[in-house]
Amino acid sequence: MTPQAMRRLAARAVEVLVDRIGGLDSANAWDGEFREVLAEQFGGPPPEDGRPAEEVLEQAVRDVLPYAARLDHPRFFGFVPSSPTWPGIVADFLAAGFNINSCTWLVSSGTSQLELVVVDWMRGWIGYPESAGGLLTSGGSAASVEALVAARDAAGHPSQPTVYMSDQSHSALKRAAWITGVRREHTRIVPSDDDFRMDMAELRHQVAEDRAHGLEPVAICANAGTPSTGAIDPLSEMADYCRAEGVWLHVDAAYGGFALVTDHGRERLGGIDKADSVGMDAHKWFFQPYEAGALMVRNARHLEGAFAIGHDVLQDTVWGANHPNFADRGIQLSRMARALKIWMSVQTFGMARFREAVQNGLDLAHRAAEYIESSAMLQLMAPVALGIVCFRVNAVDRGCDEATLERVNREVLARAFWDELAFFSSTSLKGVFSLRLCIVNHTTTWEDVSMTLDRVVQLGEDALAEP
Ligand SMILES: Cc1ncc(COP(=O)(O)O)c(C=O)c1O
Repeated sequence: MTPQAMRRLAARAVEVLVDRIGGLDSANAWDGEFREVLAEQFGGPPPEDGRPAEEVLEQAVRDVLPYAARLDHPRFFGFVPSSPTWPGIVADFLAAGFNINSCTWLVSSGTSQLELVVVDWMRGWIGYPESAGGLLTSGGSAASVEALVAARDAAGHPSQPTVYMSDQSHSALKRAAWITGVRREHTRIVPSDDDFRMDMAELRHQVAEDRAHGLEPVAICANAGTPSTGAIDPLSEMADYCRAEGVWLHVDAAYGGFALVTDHGRERLGGIDKADSVGMDAHKWFFQPYEAGALMVRNARHLEGAFAIGHDVLQDTVWGANHPNFADRGIQLSRMARALKIWMSVQTFGMARFREAVQNGLDLAHRAAEYIESSAMLQLMAPVALGIVCFRVNAVDRGCDEATLERVNREVLARAFWDELAFFSSTSLKGVFSLRLCIVNHTTTWEDVSMTLDRVVQLGEDALAEP
């Protein structure tokens, strides 16, 4: 491509993106299309001859990219939203343009140093000692696998390993246990208590029973923000127990970890610094584009112990201990320069703004809980620990049974979905259907949240009025 053609194409992409972001508030929070329709628009074999790049870009912008959840819409509250900053987005473009492979110091010393810097920021937020280290990953799923690989290695690769997590843990942890060779029947799902936190008595009982049967506990997984309700397991107690038992404690803080940058979050997540490893996702509550996860390990040596491997064709890349090769800390050799987006956005806005933005999510969630508790039409379904609010329509004066409540709330969710004012999702709380808002977008205001709750009340009235 000529330099002029390159500039024209990139300038159009920037224009499209700035318009999209500027217009999010007035766009739908979700859009999607059936496969047959999409296949008709851009299916078929690869073309033998190309066509003008602008035409291709316009087609992608018109026919492909809009058919997606607008995860960064101020009223997108489903699953775990993501609202990247513009410097973070531009950083990914730059890293692709500089064609960075952040695998080894030799291949990219600049971004390797940046990854050390960002990992050290995270070390500070967790409260880990100097001996800690880590790496950036694609997300929480990869971090979970890498954590359990390190745990298995630290435990000396027992032949009958077991891993423990609560019934509220993310499926990524279960999958990570299976990937690391823990048999499905030895992946222990421990019941949680009434507040959706790990039941310690059940955990102790399960571990003792397994040991009595010759099984070997390799890791216990704690939640620092369960996916359903945001509940936080008793981290400090779990860490003390794990230390006494000689079992690795991994904390899945993929969703909740960045609450650590606020005073409130640090207090809530007390004890996290005693864990052997922590996974946290910057593409969730730290305002980065996908993919930006991280795995932090209390003793950094455990990662290289588990993953470093010599390879003839890479022998020139060894610069010595002071120049880490991040490929020696995890699964990937070829790696995106994920540190660049975190570094560029934090440098641009400063930590005070990031702290404020994370606090905004915490504050809005608490305000939403107050709204729900003062509404005669709504019921709070779980304590609000971080930025997630679980609730349902349940008019106290109508005396509905559980089956009716489930029908009504499913109806509310379906109508809200087609209504397009906002997007939220549901979960099952020990078998009870619950609506769920996850409020972690730095552009979301109280008006966005209250407007959404007002609409739920109205849709609830309609659904309850039906036979
Ligand atoms: C608590 C928790 N753990 C793990 C994951 C998986 O993370 P990822 O999607 O980044 O792989 C998620 C994703 O939502 C999560 O919320």
